[in-house]
Amino acid sequence: MEIIVNGKPQSLDIDPDTPLLWALRDELNLVGTKFGCGIAACGACTVHVDGVATRSCILPISALEGKKITTIEGLSESGDHPLQKAWLEHDVPQCGYCQSGQIMSAASLLSENPSPTDEEIDLAMHGNICRCGTYKRIKAAIKTASVSK
Ligand code: FES
Ligand code: FES
Repeated sequence: MEIIVNGKPQSLDIDPDTPLLWALRDELNLVGTKFGCGIAACGACTVHVDGVATRSCILPISALEGKKITTIEGLSESGDHPLQKAWLEHDVPQCGYCQSGQIMSAASLLSENPSPTDEEIDLAMHGNICRCGTYKRIKAAIKTASVSK
């Protein structure tokens, strides 16, 4: 299997039914993307596929030939995406486990809609669960990043 991850072609010799999440973590050592539920219900495993926020835990790599996958490691060259800066400004993470998925969902939203309303943010982010309850800071950071675009 050939997949493109963070701009680099990657050749993987694994079962085509393997979910993308395991290919990223176990084969490519991109461990910023997290396993939470494994059933597309928590958002911890969110990456971009052709720019769209996608749950990698249920997506077989056979569906990804020729698609561009972006993980949290590839979101920006030096961690200075407007969302990453806003996350720092608002001191968003608590335990941190859900946060790469949160940022990837937010980045997908802002790439389509640079100035989302509160309702649009809620709609885009409602599938990303945070057990630490950082939702208020997540929303504030998204609003900061949307203003700075
Ligand atoms: S691990 Fe994929 S949505 Fe929870
Ligand atoms: S920061 Fe702990 S689960 Fe979100």
